[in-house]
Amino acid sequence: METLGYQTGFGNNCATEALPNALPAGRNSPQVCPYGLYAEQLSGTAFTVPRAEARRSWLYRIRPAALQNAFTPFNGAPSWLHQFGSGPVTPNRLRWNPLEIPSVPTDFIEGIRTWAGNGNSEDLSGVSINLYAANRSMTKRFFYNADAEMLIVPQLGRLRLATELGLIDIEPCEIAVIPRGVRFRVELTDAEARGYLLENFAAVLRLPELGPIGSNGLANARDFLTPVAWYEDLDGEFELIAKFTGAFWRTTLSHSPLDVVAWHGNNAPYKYDLRRFNTIGSISHDHPDPCIFTVLTSPSDTPGTANIDFAIFPPRILAMENTFRPPWFHRNIAGEFMGLIQGIYDAKAKGFLPGGASLHNCMTPHGPDAETFEKASNADLGQPDYIRNTMAFMFETRRVIRPSSIALTSPALQSDYDMAWSGFKKHFNPAKI
Ligand SMILES: [Fe+2]
Repeated sequence: METLGYQTGFGNNCATEALPNALPAGRNSPQVCPYGLYAEQLSGTAFTVPRAEARRSWLYRIRPAALQNAFTPFNGAPSWLHQFGSGPVTPNRLRWNPLEIPSVPTDFIEGIRTWAGNGNSEDLSGVSINLYAANRSMTKRFFYNADAEMLIVPQLGRLRLATELGLIDIEPCEIAVIPRGVRFRVELTDAEARGYLLENFAAVLRLPELGPIGSNGLANARDFLTPVAWYEDLDGEFELIAKFTGAFWRTTLSHSPLDVVAWHGNNAPYKYDLRRFNTIGSISHDHPDPCIFTVLTSPSDTPGTANIDFAIFPPRILAMENTFRPPWFHRNIAGEFMGLIQGIYDAKAKGFLPGGASLHNCMTPHGPDAETFEKASNADLGQPDYIRNTMAFMFETRRVIRPSSIALTSPALQSDYDMAWSGFKKHFNPAKI
């Protein structure tokens, strides 16, 4: 049975059923559920958080998730790491070429490589930043992540995320978020898939406050899509892989866990098309800070300092007068990990490739390369610049982002990245203003 459909809105309380009247009327957990289903609550936040923060759903399923055998260690995801070390982190600017597509059959779980991270899932704080490259679907394998909410950013190839709460199809320039604990299978719609995976150990992602922007703008709530209920009633030999405390565990199931016939609540996966982002910028001079590009944020305990901000640099029009229009030189307190989904990022003339990545940590100077600086300094500002066919993004965190041993030893690491800033001429002349 295939039911691909979506409900609109961000964080809404949804109610959806794949069979008529499968949702119990007026009860979350009646004595007997319709169709002989089992009722089960999936909580994504503590019970007593403020109501606006609460995420929970009630699932009505063929068998309870508790029907599972004991887990044993699983070694099939050797490059999906968890510890980010405690020693010194290089202050050097780092940039990587795209991952190669694997030459042997590799599914989404097997194809994840941890590139960087910080914090610790056991403290419900920090993030893990991963790349993925895969060439086969998960078939009889399912996965859930007890450590983190997962933000998937495809760069190459479409994915179908078959989850307990429904089907999500995404393609490059779309994203999906899967809540902590939700069981799912990743199917490749195309022969190859590559992209980025953020694990958020902390407070769940939400839309940023809009402040003086007002009630519209940036990512609008109605453009977020949550799947309708969908289920498969399959008996057979299946395996369930779990990630918990950074380790991987495997058990077997005698049925597909994607057997939720109906559900209601607001703890559910969702997708968003980045091309729908309402990009806001200056219409006079100068730039707003790049937080104006925030799509989703996971706040920390300190107001205004996020555990993770997910920001994008989408197509946009630059019309500022007497302004250096590309992103400017800067040193920030935040850690900045960037990726490129398509096109060219307007602060770099070359070297930052779709599928690639860069890391600029706390107080590391970066910004436009010399070629971009010269070009923008001499550009005709009488016309607007149309930045088209591009989609870069940034994972920005309050903490230092610690690159993994895999990233630092990868052949994809560019040894000459510093050269991007090597060609600046001295223009200073004290006799000329
Ligand atoms: Fe930056």
